[in-house]
Amino acid sequence: MSMPLIELCEVSRRYDDGPPALHEVSLTVRPGEAVAILGPSGSGKSTLLNLIAGLDRPDTGTVTVDGARIDQLGETGAALHRRTRIGMVFQFFHLLDDLTVTDNVALPARLAGLPRGETERRAAELLERLGIDRHARTHPDRLSGGERQRVAVARALMNRPALLLADEPTGALDTAAGQDVSRLLTELNAEGQTVVLVTHDLALARSCTSRTIRIADGRITHDQPSRAVAPEAVR
Ligand SMILES: Nc1ncnc2c1ncn2[C@@H]1O[C@H](COP(=O)(O)OP(=O)(O)OP(=O)(O)O)[C@@H](O)[C@H]1O
Ligand SMILES: [Mg+2]
Repeated sequence: MSMPLIELCEVSRRYDDGPPALHEVSLTVRPGEAVAILGPSGSGKSTLLNLIAGLDRPDTGTVTVDGARIDQLGETGAALHRRTRIGMVFQFFHLLDDLTVTDNVALPARLAGLPRGETERRAAELLERLGIDRHARTHPDRLSGGERQRVAVARALMNRPALLLADEPTGALDTAAGQDVSRLLTELNAEGQTVVLVTHDLALARSCTSRTIRIADGRITHDQPSRAVAPEAVR
C-alpha cells in the first residue's frame, strides 16, 4: 500500500467555549483517492478541510499531509504548504475581479516565483484543458457561475498540487453547471489527482468520488463506498 497523502490522528478543534467542531477525528487518505465529506450544516466539514489546508490548527492531535506535519507549521510554513501541495476551490469562487481570467489562474505560480514564460504557458494550457481559453482576457465578473468555477479549478491546479480540496464547489451553481464541475472533478481524479470534496449533496458525492465519509457533530460516523451511502443518512 502507498504512503498516505493525508493522515489525521485524533484531531480535535473547538472554537471558544462551544462544543467541539471536531472531536478526535482520525482519517487516512491515499494518493489518487477521491473522497467526499458529507454531513449537515455545522458538523465540522469546513473545519476539517481548513486543518488539512493549514488554514487552521487543531487543539490536539496531528495532521500530516504528504509527509509533513501541518499542525506544527507557523504562518509562513502553512502558506508555503498551501502554495506547493494544496489547490482549493470554494463555493463562491474567491476570484479577483480586477484581474483577467489568465492572471487569476497564473497568480499562484507568480506567488511561488515560477518563471514568467513557464507560468504563461501553464496557465494557457490549463485554460484550454478546462475549456475556458476563449475567456482568457475576460474578467471573472463577466462570466457565468459555471465558468467562474472552472477558472477557480484552473487556479487551484496551477502549482500542480498533490491534493485538490473543494468546499461545496457546486453549492452556488445551477444543476447543469454543477454537473459540469462534477464531471471535471471526476476527470481530474481519473488522471490521478487526489480530491477531497466537501458537500451536502449525495448525488455529487456519488458521481465524483468512490469513498464517502460522513460527519455529524464533529465526529466521523461512517466511512464507506460512495455508492453504498443511503440517502436518508445524509441529513
Ligand atoms: N471561526 C469560527 N469561530 C467560531 N466558531 C466556528 C468558526 N468556524 C466554525 N465554527 C463552528 O464550528 C462548527 C463547525 O463549523 P464548520 O464550518 O466546520 O461546519 P460545516 O460542516 O462546514 O457547515 P456548513 O455545511 O454550513 O458549511 C459550527 O458549530 C460552527 O459554528
Ligand atoms: Mg462549511
